[in-house]
Amino acid sequence: MEQSVELTWPNKDLSLRAVGVTGYKWVEPTDRALQKPLRLESLTGNQPGPLSNVLAIGDGLDALEALGETNVFADGIRAVYIDPPFNTGKTFNQYGDAMSRPMWLSMMRDRLAALSPYLREDASIWLHLDDSEVHRARMVMDEVFGENAFVASVIWQKRTTRDSRAAFSSNHDTILVYAPSGPRKWKLSRNLLAKDEATLRNRDDDPRGPWADAPFTAPGFRRAQQYDITTPSGDVVKPPRGRSWYATESTYKQLLEEDRIWFPKGGAGSPRIKLFAHQLRGLVPFTVWGSSDVGTNDDAKRHLLDLFPERPVFDTPKPEELLERILHIATSPGELVVDLFAGSGTTAATAHKMRRRWVTVERNTQTVLDFTLPRLQQVVEGSDTGGVTGQVAWVGGGGFDVLQVAPRFGTLSGLHNTSTLRRKFITGDELAKRRQA
Ligand SMILES: C[S@@+](CC[C@H](N)C(=O)[O-])C[C@H]1O[C@@H](n2cnc3c(N)ncnc32)[C@H](O)[C@@H]1O
Repeated sequence: MEQSVELTWPNKDLSLRAVGVTGYKWVEPTDRALQKPLRLESLTGNQPGPLSNVLAIGDGLDALEALGETNVFADGIRAVYIDPPFNTGKTFNQYGDAMSRPMWLSMMRDRLAALSPYLREDASIWLHLDDSEVHRARMVMDEVFGENAFVASVIWQKRTTRDSRAAFSSNHDTILVYAPSGPRKWKLSRNLLAKDEATLRNRDDDPRGPWADAPFTAPGFRRAQQYDITTPSGDVVKPPRGRSWYATESTYKQLLEEDRIWFPKGGAGSPRIKLFAHQLRGLVPFTVWGSSDVGTNDDAKRHLLDLFPERPVFDTPKPEELLERILHIATSPGELVVDLFAGSGTTAATAHKMRRRWVTVERNTQTVLDFTLPRLQQVVEGSDTGGVTGQVAWVGGGGFDVLQVAPRFGTLSGLHNTSTLRRKFITGDELAKRRQA
C-alpha cells in the first residue's frame, strides 16, 4: 500500500499497553510480557463461541487479543463502531478524557490495526469523534486501512440547543467510515435506507395502489434514448440538454401502455415514471444526519434516565436511533458487530434488538455494573421499552456472556475482583426464566 504522506508522533514505533484500571505505558514491541497469554475468565460460566454475544470487562486491545484465541470471531466481523474518549481534555463522571496526543494516537492505531485480521471482506469501520482529534484520526485510518478504504465522513447533529458562551456552538460530531474493500465494492453489500412510504400518493386512482414519481430522464447523451414524446395536451417534448430519456422508445411505449408514465401539469408537463412501493429502491444515505432522524445526545441521556432513574446519568451516551441507522447500513441480521468502547452499551443494546451478534468491551468496571450490564439484561428481558425497541419490534430474547480480561500489566482494582463481580451476574438461563415469569 503506497503511503506518500505520513503523520508522525513521539514513540510511534513503540507499543502502548493498558496498565491497571485507567493507565497506559509504552513498551517495546519485543517486550517479553507481550508474549504471555492473557487471562480470560467467564463470569457467566460459559466459554464464548462463534454464536455468542460477549460483554468483556477490560481493555479493548487486551480483550481483542484474548478473544482472538477463542472462536468468537470465526465468522469474521461485519462492522465495527467505536466511540472512544475524544481527547477533549475534560473529565466526565465515568471516565477521564485527557491523554497526551501521542498516547491517544497510538491507542487508536493499535486497536484499529488489531481489528484488521478479523474483518470480513465486506466489513466497514465507523469511528465516532469530534473536532479534537478527527483530522489526525483520519490520517491514522488511512495508514491502517489505506487511503482507498475511505468511504465517507458522516456529520451527526448531536444537539439542538445553543451554547452561547462559546465562539461557535459546536453541534456536530464526525463519524469516519472506512471499508477495507473500498467504497465501490462495499457499496454492493451495504444496505440502503428505507424509503418513506408515507410520501406515496395515488393521483390517478391507479388500481395498483399509491405511487411515487421520478423524472423519466437519465444523465448523459445516449442516441437511442433521444426521441420526441407527445404529451396528452399535444405538446412535443425532448430530453433536457445533456440528458436522455430514461429508456429507449420501444420501452417507453410499453411503459405508456402499462400506465406507468405520468404527465404532470394536467398532462402538459414532461413525462415522469410511476414507482409503486415494491419498485422503490432504498435511499442512498446522505453524509449529514439530522437530529430529527437519528436523535441527540440528550435523547440518549433521557433514555438512560428512564432505565436508571436513581443514578447520575452516563455523560456521553449515543442514541440508539443513530446506531440503528449505522447498523442497518453496515450489517444484516445475524452478522457480528464489535465495539471496543462500550460505555453505557448503546451499540450492543441496539445490535441485540436488531438481531445482530455483538462483542463489546468496557474498561471501567463500575460503568459495566452501573449501566452496560443492567441495560443489556433489560434488553434481553424485554423490559427496555425505549430507544429503538418499538421501531424494530423488539420483545426480548437471546442472551450474552460476560468475560473478564485480566490486564497484562498490573492487576484489576481489588474492589472488583472476580468473586465480587460474579455475584452481580444473572446467567442467560435465569434471564430467560425471568422473562417467562
Ligand atoms: C464515549 S464513551 C462510549 C459511549 C457509548 N458509545 C455509549 O453510547 O454509551 C467511551 C467509553 O470507553 C471506555 N474506555 C476508555 N478507554 C478504554 C479502553 N482502553 N478499553 C475499553 N474501554 C475503554 C470509557 O470508560 C467510556 O465508557
